[in-house]
Amino acid sequence: MQSLPTVVDMTPTTPAHPAQPAAHGHHHERPGHGDRPGHGPAPENDTDLAELLDLDAQHAAPVLAAALDAAAAALGHAPREVVDLGAGTGTGTLALAARFSGARVHALDASAGMIERIRASAALSGLSERIETHLVDLDTDWPAAVPHEVDMAWAALSLHHTSDPSRVLRQVFDVLRPGGVVVATEFSGATTYSPADLGTGSSDLGGRVVSALATRGYPVTAEWTEALVAAGFSDVSRHEATVAVSSRTAAGARFLELQLQRNRELLGDELGADDLAGLDAAIAGLGAGASSVDHTSGRVFWVAVRP
Ligand SMILES: C[S@@+](CC[C@H](N)C(=O)[O-])C[C@H]1O[C@@H](n2cnc3c(N)ncnc32)[C@H](O)[C@@H]1O
Repeated sequence: MQSLPTVVDMTPTTPAHPAQPAAHGHHHERPGHGDRPGHGPAPENDTDLAELLDLDAQHAAPVLAAALDAAAAALGHAPREVVDLGAGTGTGTLALAARFSGARVHALDASAGMIERIRASAALSGLSERIETHLVDLDTDWPAAVPHEVDMAWAALSLHHTSDPSRVLRQVFDVLRPGGVVVATEFSGATTYSPADLGTGSSDLGGRVVSALATRGYPVTAEWTEALVAAGFSDVSRHEATVAVSSRTAAGARFLELQLQRNRELLGDELGADDLAGLDAAIAGLGAGASSVDHTSGRVFWVAVRP
């Protein structure tokens, strides 16, 4: 008799979410053809996005470490074949290769620019021999590009970019060997800025930026527990964490500067002229190292096992 899947929610107070990214409901446009926030592969050349991803990774390092620990515990043995789906600049790829020294890590991304960055970082880290890059679209038959009987699949902040995440999870199930582990990460929860005026004197400017972003569907959050169970996974656990960034460090200030710049681009016609001017002042203050702003954002990761 088949045993029922086990779902362990590590954050039982979290309200139920829809099974698809909250930002766009159930539309499944092709990448680049829809209006879903954060949908589709990264542009070929987006230096700011790559820098933002790397700075985000620096600050989210404790979450990455916790996800690696949980994945290793769920697998229970050293993985030999690992896939990183939507690998971006290679944060997960490099961490997986460093953590699992006997593993070959396959980094998949549909952006040639990101693949180039992964290759360069792998070479710099001396890990090239165990890292294979694959320029491939996760909305296609990507399993054909990777070995069968994969031990671990990693999808950090990438599933929500795909047209049909449930299909991708079914494909992950098929490429994993029995006992194999999948880890998925997404944004979650509230974003906060302190002080709320972003150091500009414009009362609650940060709150209005957060509200306007929410109207546009940012941050893109997603909920994969149901989809993981539906794909056949067992022992599904869900873990929430908070990522804190402070402009008191150079990396934190640069992250917040780039992030507010990106927000300003997204919110051009959503904010009034005064708030746009305030945002410009906040960005300039961060760039000049003259501003003190703290920021928090939520992360959630799932770990699940193919029975
Ligand atoms: C937000 S980034 C996350 C990168 C990395 N996993 C991390 O945690 O930093 C999402 C990545 O998924 C890639 N991506 C989006 N849609 C994709 C698709 N359909 N096929 C392959 N890669 C895709 C993007 O090009 C981008 O590099």
